[in-house]
Amino acid sequence: MGSSEHSIQIEKDFQKFSARTYLEEYYSEIQNEDKHHLRCLAKVYGDVKDGSTLLEFGGGPTLYQLMSAAPKVKEIHFSDYLEVNLAEVRNWVNRCSSAFNWNKITETALEAEGITATPEAINAREELLRGKITKFLHCDAHRKYPLGINDNDDAVQYDIVNCHFVAESISDTFHDWKSAFENICRCVKPGGKLVMAAMKRAIAWKNGDKKFLAVGITEQDVTNVLAENGFVNENIFMETFPADQEDYREVIFFCSNGSFNQLQKLYIVICGTGDLPSTDHAKIKISNMKCFPITYKKQLLSFDDNLVPLLHRMTNLEELHVHLLKFILNNQYHLPSNEDIKYSFKTFQNDETISSIDYFERAKLLYCHVYSYPYTWKFYHYITNNFHGGLFKSVREITLYDEHPFEHDFVFFVLLNRFHVLTN
Ligand SMILES: C[S@@+](CC[C@H](N)C(=O)[O-])C[C@H]1O[C@@H](n2cnc3c(N)ncnc32)[C@H](O)[C@@H]1O
Repeated sequence: MGSSEHSIQIEKDFQKFSARTYLEEYYSEIQNEDKHHLRCLAKVYGDVKDGSTLLEFGGGPTLYQLMSAAPKVKEIHFSDYLEVNLAEVRNWVNRCSSAFNWNKITETALEAEGITATPEAINAREELLRGKITKFLHCDAHRKYPLGINDNDDAVQYDIVNCHFVAESISDTFHDWKSAFENICRCVKPGGKLVMAAMKRAIAWKNGDKKFLAVGITEQDVTNVLAENGFVNENIFMETFPADQEDYREVIFFCSNGSFNQLQKLYIVICGTGDLPSTDHAKIKISNMKCFPITYKKQLLSFDDNLVPLLHRMTNLEELHVHLLKFILNNQYHLPSNEDIKYSFKTFQNDETISSIDYFERAKLLYCHVYSYPYTWKFYHYITNNFHGGLFKSVREITLYDEHPFEHDFVFFVLLNRFHVLTN
């Protein structure tokens, strides 16, 4: 963002922000600062895997920051604090004749990606971006959960949060900046990505005849907050480039991947006979972690050797829901007893762990089922005659499996008394 006029008055009330003036002032001409910024965006979005959902946080009335993201993401939810800003972006998405013209920015973004910016290519990219913006949301970085919480009491979180010139532009003190930055970090899913730009050592920033005060921050401040909030330090891409402004001279651009240390609830579902996807523990920094991404390479039923030690490293885990389901050839493994399994999970006080082992003689298969109770999944597969009982209010889908026929009374009892609503 760049401008060059003189300041007149200090403004604190964001309702006095003029979206149109902001666009004319900062984005009607391409400046070196914009070229640098678009190059950084092209680089980090070039590396993004397709299919994420992106939150544009505090996007204001602008779209430059999404041009290189558009081909890589599935959907974009566009948020800002001010309705006037959202209205300006909506106008553009709806192709209103009064909407701001982003052609020059799109051209520069395409060039930064190494694409020849013909009028057709510019138009195609803008159309692509229009199609990807599926929601407009109100956000407030000064709230602990800037987008609120969803129906399950979890913070609303995204694979990627894209946020440019926000926390330092809307805060009065370093403390406010840090807290706003942390709140924005809270919108990133565990393991997700944060893409940000911030004014370095800024005093203020202009909006027509007004100036909004800014908090002067440095790369070290950014790095500290990222590390404290679980963003893996070795993965930070950071670049500082010049800005030709009255009240700040440089911009810090950075992109960082979150770790899993904000994770408080872990749902493990291990079904079937195939290998589980694994992560390499050695590469993951775990000193701050509240929880641990599970790797499971060995046999499923060696609870004590594999799963349990991992779970015990999650010292801050508040809830554990386990659901393990496996058919095993009966001569292949030494099976733990139900008591062994219960003992393995005894540290997790909040749940009861229920296990059952069935032997299918004809198929020469052992079937082992372990789950935490109360049961929270929507499915319950392979109910046998050995069904343990209990209430399963969340279940919407069941299957029965046994070599011996089910008594009519048993089926009736299971379906009607234990599983409240069945749709399948
Ligand atoms: C300097 S502008 C940045 C706009 C845009 N991201 C850009 O790159 O040009 C700051 C933005 O922060 C928004 N804002 C103001 N108060 C906010 C708050 N409490 N939470 C989130 N955003 C806020 C403003 O509406 C404005 O769009």
